Formats: sequence, C-alpha cells, structure tokens
Amino acid sequence: MLEDSGALLSDLFAQPFTVALLGAVLAHDFETHRHLLNVGMLSAYAGATAGLEHPRVVMLGQAGLFHDVGKLHVSRMLLNARHELDASEWFSLRAHAVRGEQMLHARGAPTVAAIVRSHHERLDGSGYPDGLRGLAIPWEARLLAVVDAYDCMRAGRPYAAPIAYDEAIARLEAARTLYDSEAVEVLVATLGADRTAKGGQATFLK
Ligand SMILES: [Fe+2]
Repeated sequence: MLEDSGALLSDLFAQPFTVALLGAVLAHDFETHRHLLNVGMLSAYAGATAGLEHPRVVMLGQAGLFHDVGKLHVSRMLLNARHELDASEWFSLRAHAVRGEQMLHARGAPTVAAIVRSHHERLDGSGYPDGLRGLAIPWEARLLAVVDAYDCMRAGRPYAAPIAYDEAIARLEAARTLYDSEAVEVLVATLGADRTAKGGQATFLK
C-alpha cells in the first residue's frame, strides 16, 4: 500500500542519471520511453501491493524504469521491425538485457542492474541471458517479467495489436511455464480485478 506517493515518485527518480538516461531513450525511441515509464510505475505499484518495504518498492520501480535501457544500443529500425527477425537480429536485440545491466553497474546501481539483467528469464529456462529456471530467477525479475509482458500486450507491438485487460491477464495466467503465477496474482491485485465492486480504484491506493 502506498502511504506516501510523493516520496515514492521522488525516490523513483532520485538517481542523478535518471532523467538523462530516460531522455536519451525518448530521443532514441518514443515507444520504449513510454514502456519504461509505464512499467516503472506499475512495478512500484505492484511492489506496494505485495507489501514490500519502501526501499524495495523503489528498487523494483527503478528496475522497471530502466529494464530496457540497453535498447539505446539497438537500432530504432530493429526495435520497430515488423518482419520476423533473423538470428543476428535476435542476437542484437537480446543483448539489451546485459547492456542495460552494464549501464546501471557503471552508474553505481548494482542491485537494480541485477534485476534488469534477468527480466527476460522464464520459469522453464527458455529465457535469456542465463537460462535461469524457477526460483533461481530473482523474485523482482519474475514480477518485472509479468509487468513487462502485460504492458506489451496492452499497448501492442509493431507486429501485434493491443489487447484488452481480461485477455492479457488470461494469457499470462495460461503461460504458467513462463510466468510466475504468484506474480500474476500480484499484478491482478494491483490493477484491482474487482474494479466494479471497488468503484474503479486500484488496490495499491487503498
Ligand atoms: Fe526487455
């Protein structure tokens, strides 16, 4: 639960490099910047819903804000490609997880860097860069993976139309071999699945 949303916002953006990095992302690719802001806020809300202490909520939110910052090193053309990627294009795209980790390490944020590295790991070991399985994937990275996938589905991609809330949640719940079902539950609780009953207010604000 968010007891002091002003502190959350200022702490999320407290690192001296935040605005410069996000500004560089905005200049590089509009959609990536939108995605980072949305995933950053939603990750922090989800952390609050899960009952994390404030410093962990902030860390999770910062990991969300920066999870794709390594895409600064991926060409805009590749980021917006509508064709099926070939092997070398996949290699370049996938490198963003490690590049992002390196960028955050270099800026003195090793804990956030570690979460960023693992945001494309999947429970069955099919993810990257390390092919981690199950609980070997840090909890924060498992939650971030769910929030990331949710935002991508809701917003749509160059190759996929946006989908509605119910369908996005159904797809996450069905993909149990990939996504942590407890993390999906945290997301649903955060967004207020029983929105009608609660008058449309998200649960993290209660
Ligand atoms: Fe990513």
